[in-house]
Amino acid sequence: MIVKDNITELLDVYRDEIRAKSPNSLAIWQQNRTVMPAGVGSLFRLADPFPMVVKKAKGVRVWDADDNEYLDFMLGFSVMILGNTPQVVQEAIREALSHGTHYGQCHEHEYEFAKLFCDMVPGVEKVTFCNSGTEATMYTLRLARAATGRPLIAKFEGGYHGTHDLLSVSFGRPGPTADQCGAIEDPATVPESPGLAEGAWRNTIVLPFNHPAAFDKIRRHADQLAGVIIEPVQGAAGAIPADREFLLELRRITRETGAFLIFDEVITGFRLAPGGAQEYYDIIPDVSAFGKIAGGGLPFGAVGGTAEAMRLMEFDSEPGSILMAGTFNGSPIVTAAGTAVLQRLRKEPQLYARMNAMGDRFRNEINKFAQEEDYPAMATGAGSIFWMHALRGPINNIRDVRQAVRFVSPGLRLLYRKNGLHIPPNHGFMCAEHANEDITQLIEIHKAAMEELRAQGVW
Ligand SMILES: Cc1ncc(COP(=O)(O)O)c(C=O)c1O
Repeated sequence: MIVKDNITELLDVYRDEIRAKSPNSLAIWQQNRTVMPAGVGSLFRLADPFPMVVKKAKGVRVWDADDNEYLDFMLGFSVMILGNTPQVVQEAIREALSHGTHYGQCHEHEYEFAKLFCDMVPGVEKVTFCNSGTEATMYTLRLARAATGRPLIAKFEGGYHGTHDLLSVSFGRPGPTADQCGAIEDPATVPESPGLAEGAWRNTIVLPFNHPAAFDKIRRHADQLAGVIIEPVQGAAGAIPADREFLLELRRITRETGAFLIFDEVITGFRLAPGGAQEYYDIIPDVSAFGKIAGGGLPFGAVGGTAEAMRLMEFDSEPGSILMAGTFNGSPIVTAAGTAVLQRLRKEPQLYARMNAMGDRFRNEINKFAQEEDYPAMATGAGSIFWMHALRGPINNIRDVRQAVRFVSPGLRLLYRKNGLHIPPNHGFMCAEHANEDITQLIEIHKAAMEELRAQGVW
């Protein structure tokens, strides 16, 4: 066992071990930094002590540039629900490529893809495609504003919906101070980046997640409120599911006040159930944003909803269609990849029972262990979305998450990586390819990391 006088030194030992086992990855990232800001294409790839540089991904494993093998619970940030590089997707892409890479026009295969959305997702009667989850959430807000003629959008504290100016607030990236956040009953709108257009984010109000004060705030702004967007299971905040009663009340009050209820299903869509969170919770929103899984591993987003809610995307609508366009929308290659994935998910709905049971197993075993061994730890999530927090709980929202024991989470993350787990920093995912032995290994790595940090006096 390493013996260190203080926690910072201990974490540095773990960092040195990671650097020692992946020198090529470190060198590649450092080279990237000479020509790319931060050396990454997305800030969420930054990791302690440096980003993972992936060489290959197959099934439930990834290999880094030093040929270290990792058990994968990141799955490209939830995307690869059939495991990495599935055969059906490779074949579909190859077949589509033989016809062309890009037309910027309608093509023969969009109907089948769109029909799968309409058949699988209960709240989708019409769907349109774009290129990322960010774009998708942006369009849902535009639809809501255009349809209601009202200026305000509400989002929940801790909810992440992409990087556009309207919603880049109050998800907690820089770790705002308690003063900046405001009271739990009335969270402040905290910009997450310099450079946001003030006129955009100031029209976004922030609601407390899983907290009844959210409904009072909606009522206070009712005549100005165009829509409320929610991740039914908050992902980046730490895999926190909304209570069903809370979502039901949100459905009721948005209907009563005439605001759109918008589900951000970028993570939950085609993950919690074939019909996403709206099937899982049996609650139908007006419109939803999709991305990730449904693009089959290629860049993708979609907006789907009831025909009535999507009316202002029709070209002959009154007062005219909202602006929705994109050179690459409905790309034939992405359509082929996405169709292959959705077809398999539709054909084998039993995959969901398996994946969700694996998530339950993780939560049950970790929570039992934490209780028996008296760790302030709690596993959260829903279905195949999971995480373990360094606190006793209950965990209802990001304010609870911020009560975690200091230094434990950074220590755990370093130990996961050192011990061969590839997992995002705040939410993990299971896929159809994971076997029970993989979940056993996931649990064992978690328990070993907990024991190590306790032995070191961190926890
Ligand atoms: C819930 C949620 N919404 C929207 C987005 C944005 O999607 P994209 O990264 O494709 O723009 C993400 C990305 O992680 C997400 O998790």
